[in-house]
Amino acid sequence: MACHLLLVAGFAVSLAGATDHIVGANHGWNPNIDYSLWSGNQTFYVGDLISFRYQKGTHNVFEVNQTGYDNCTMAGVAGNWTSGKDFIPLNDSRRYYFICGNGFCQAGMKVAITVHPLKHNATGDGAKNHGGDGAAQEAAAAAMPGAAVWMAVLAVAAAAVAILP
Ligand SMILES: *[C@@H]1O[C@H](CO)[C@@H](O)[C@H](O)[C@H]1NC(C)=O
Ligand SMILES: *[C@@H]1O[C@H](CO)[C@@H](O)[C@H](O)[C@H]1NC(C)=O
Ligand SMILES: *[C@@H]1O[C@H](CO)[C@@H](O)[C@H](O)[C@H]1NC(C)=O
Ligand SMILES: *[C@@H]1O[C@H](CO)[C@@H](O)[C@H](O)[C@H]1NC(C)=O
Ligand SMILES: *[C@@H]1O[C@H](CO)[C@@H](O)[C@H](O)[C@H]1NC(C)=O
Ligand SMILES: *[C@@H]1O[C@H](CO)[C@@H](O)[C@H](O)[C@H]1NC(C)=O
Repeated sequence: MACHLLLVAGFAVSLAGATDHIVGANHGWNPNIDYSLWSGNQTFYVGDLISFRYQKGTHNVFEVNQTGYDNCTMAGVAGNWTSGKDFIPLNDSRRYYFICGNGFCQAGMKVAITVHPLKHNATGDGAKNHGGDGAAQEAAAAAMPGAAVWMAVLAVAAAAVAILP
């Protein structure tokens, strides 16, 4: 049963669509963290969110271009967020660069991510393209012969729970 629950969880992520990628996980958006380790462990898709949690007023978030990211400057600034709990929709398949604009970029408050195109179709070859996530979904699909309808119902229910605020 635990195995089935895991498979359902995989479907919930797929059906609910958007994943919220919390920068730094439980470390949040703070100095002296290597965010490349965090971002390297995430797979971002168009429509996902990246969210920054930090002490309002102390830190903030600026989207810049690669020059700004590399050099901790405002080069190519495209947006800024200051609420302390910022949810930023990733609308396009491209590289995004975020830095703290309060002087803490030099202390490591910078993160670069690559956003991939939308997940594969049911007929697609996403497992090949997208690694673990897609592979899990393919495996789940292969593992549901007779129980398919029941699993789908569970998945929809799980998805509904997952998207509650
Ligand atoms: C990436 O995620 C895996 C699974 O959660 C974890 O074991 C690993 O430590 C993470 N790696 C980094 C660099 O955070
Ligand atoms: C960073 O700044 C240096 C000098 O200010 C510049 O030569 C370099 O091109 C910049 N980085 C990028 C990626 O443009
Ligand atoms: C970033 O923006 C600055 C200012 O508009 C520009 O000079 C620079 O070439 C841009 N860098 C990249 C990598 O596009
Ligand atoms: C921050 O964004 C607001 C709009 O959301 C804009 O008016 C302001 O100029 C931006 N600030 C900087 C420093 O780019
Ligand atoms: C994505 O689009 C929404 C709605 O137009 C906008 O509020 C948001 O700032 C965009 N995301 C980025 C990273 O610009
Ligand atoms: C999904 O499939 C349709 C038709 O087969 C295709 O036009 C579309 O580009 C595909 N979408 C993705 C994200 O691969």
